[in-house]
Amino acid sequence: MEPVVDNIAVTGRRVLVTGSGGFLGSHVVEQLHDVADVHAVTRETCDLRDAAAVRSLLDEVHPQIVIHLAAAQGGVAWQKANQATAYLDNAAMMDALVMASLETGVERFLFAASSICYPREASIPFREETLWDGPPDEAHWGYANAKRGGIALLQAAHEQHGLSAAVVLPANMYGPRARFEPDRSNVVAATIRRCQEAVEAGVDEITCWGSGTPVREFLYVEDAAAGIIRAAERLATPAPVNLGTGVETTIAELVETVAAAVGFRGAIRWDTERPDGAPRVCMDVDRMHRLLDWTPVTTLADGLGRTIEWWSSAREQESRS
Ligand SMILES: NC(=O)c1ccc[n+]([C@@H]2O[C@H](COP(=O)([O-])OP(=O)(O)OC[C@H]3O[C@@H](n4cnc5c(N)ncnc54)[C@H](OP(=O)(O)O)[C@@H]3O)[C@@H](O)[C@H]2O)c1
Repeated sequence: MEPVVDNIAVTGRRVLVTGSGGFLGSHVVEQLHDVADVHAVTRETCDLRDAAAVRSLLDEVHPQIVIHLAAAQGGVAWQKANQATAYLDNAAMMDALVMASLETGVERFLFAASSICYPREASIPFREETLWDGPPDEAHWGYANAKRGGIALLQAAHEQHGLSAAVVLPANMYGPRARFEPDRSNVVAATIRRCQEAVEAGVDEITCWGSGTPVREFLYVEDAAAGIIRAAERLATPAPVNLGTGVETTIAELVETVAAAVGFRGAIRWDTERPDGAPRVCMDVDRMHRLLDWTPVTTLADGLGRTIEWWSSAREQESRS
């Protein structure tokens, strides 16, 4: 079933944003700053796994809108090594926040799930109606099932208590303030790091994993933040909506674009002994276009350029301090 659209504006409302010290959360807070009464929650402000602390936080702030972006997450290697932590932490945060939102009369709750929630065997492009058609990939078992549990909880809370809630499934994001630590980064950050290091080391060849042919979808973080705010304003029931570009990019195109942007002019070789992963991952964005009346605006080349610029200056600052 499609979500119901019922507009409430963020303008002038008290909005509590979790995960605001993270990648996406920092951009959402930035975009809300001048229009809403924003309360930015970081791990230092509140450990969201602690239900009593979360209840006190909501009693104190009394938010009208909660935008829940905090998550225990990392790259594939982190997820494989931390399946139980990913499940327990994400489920505990969600349980505590939804309980406190019900008890304190929150008007709308937005939850960022993930495209990773889709079944391992889902047909491509991912369509929202197929979300529950099978289990997610084992590599993301703990994280994906906790996110799915979060969606199920919102559906139950809507059904039983009338909680107005929005659920978005963002595509793989990239942009300024992304995680670049090797065990936490995604393919975009890892590719930027590899190409930049090759330039600095003066090598004339890099080797990338796999064949370069797999297709992926990448969403620029400032667009994602705008889409999240739009979804919080419009979606009143927790049926999921994909958040993406619908643009398919091969890994080879990604590497070539990054190489050009950082000035790497050497050869790009492919180690086909290494696994490729799924051949094609992308989302159907028809529901997003229709219900949010919104579309991302940043091209991959522009978004990568801004990401590289940010990363270079972040590294410069780090080396000076
Ligand atoms: N990045 C993507 O490509 C992507 C794609 C699809 C969906 N999403 C979803 O979008 C949301 C934002 O992702 P992101 O990339 O911005 O993640 P992120 O950079 O890892 O930010 C998540 C934030 O949550 C905080 N957090 C974790 N556990 C917490 C706890 N127990 N109490 C309080 N805060 C806690 C983290 O703090 P610490 O840094 O201190 O741990 C971090 O600041 C997440 O829900 C994620 O699942 C992301």
